[in-house]
Amino acid sequence: MSKQLKIVKDKVPSLRERCKEVTNPNDPAILDLINQMHDYLVLSQDEEYAKKHNIREGVGLAAPQIGHNLRMLVVYYKDYINDQEVEVDHRLINPKIVSESVKKIALSGGEGCLSVDDAHPGYVYRSNKIIVKAFDAKQLKEVFITARGYEAIVLQHELDHLDGILFYDHISKKDPFERIENSELI
Ligand code: NI
Repeated sequence: MSKQLKIVKDKVPSLRERCKEVTNPNDPAILDLINQMHDYLVLSQDEEYAKKHNIREGVGLAAPQIGHNLRMLVVYYKDYINDQEVEVDHRLINPKIVSESVKKIALSGGEGCLSVDDAHPGYVYRSNKIIVKAFDAKQLKEVFITARGYEAIVLQHELDHLDGILFYDHISKKDPFERIENSELI
């Protein structure tokens, strides 16, 4: 069992900085760190563990959220497609969006973040489909990932963290629940 990571909250200035590229994605210390981030998410989804250690359930985590301002993120959750359990498991170093759809989507219930304790109701519009180029810390090679829907939302939320952006920055101050053209709520 990995040692527990400490989550940096949104009042801490380092969370608002642009993160640095990882110079050597094969560095064992870097790979160890990203695997620890992955383990944190897996454990956060274990109800008993989360309750005992007083941690919130998360589906994504970016390195600046654990105090390392490096361009690394993880996504982990279980999805069900036609009653089949599918694991969504990304461990990405130096990820970069290379293509995105014009069509936007937002979660009807809004977004949350392990670094944000206050509620920020409103729609966060993001691209419905993205292609991300990254170094994959599982396969140890460069990959292109095509993500749509919820998976695309989670990836964009984590990618934002690498540029110091939080989900509520995207919510319209004038009308948090505004509907925009060519968009869908999911
Ligand atoms: Ni977040």
